[in-house]
Amino acid sequence: MYTDVVMEHITNPQNVGELADADGVGEVGSPACGDIMRISIKVEGDRITDARFRTFGCAAAIASSSMATGMVRGKSLIEAWAISNADVVDALGGLPPAKVHCSVLARDAIRAAINDYRTRQGLDAWEMGSCGCCGGSGCGSRPENG
Ligand code: FES
Repeated sequence: MYTDVVMEHITNPQNVGELADADGVGEVGSPACGDIMRISIKVEGDRITDARFRTFGCAAAIASSSMATGMVRGKSLIEAWAISNADVVDALGGLPPAKVHCSVLARDAIRAAINDYRTRQGLDAWEMGSCGCCGGSGCGSRPENG
């Protein structure tokens, strides 16, 4: 059912926990299943230097958050925003169709954390559904996979 990469992240999840001195925290719940994911990020300049997660959800959600927190580390805020759930699924080598929504949770938790950082800085929150090509400022573009 799950790829070897997914199984590795399920049995040995990376970046578990919370950053006590987080610059941004995002918590989202899945309307599909009620599971909850919380991601905290550390930002220096325009870059995410650290990211941790706590996920109260299924194995696919844990694998998605483990992978996604690793993917955003070292990326600029715009680059991290532009990571789609399809990118997370690809990095995991695929997810069963019924579990793709779990990767959406990871994307949204990262975006929520970025927006929390922006709000703390006195900046406007980016539109959650935007693709990031314009820095979330509202060009209307949307990634194919939502
Ligand atoms: Fe709820 Fe996967 S089934 S996040």
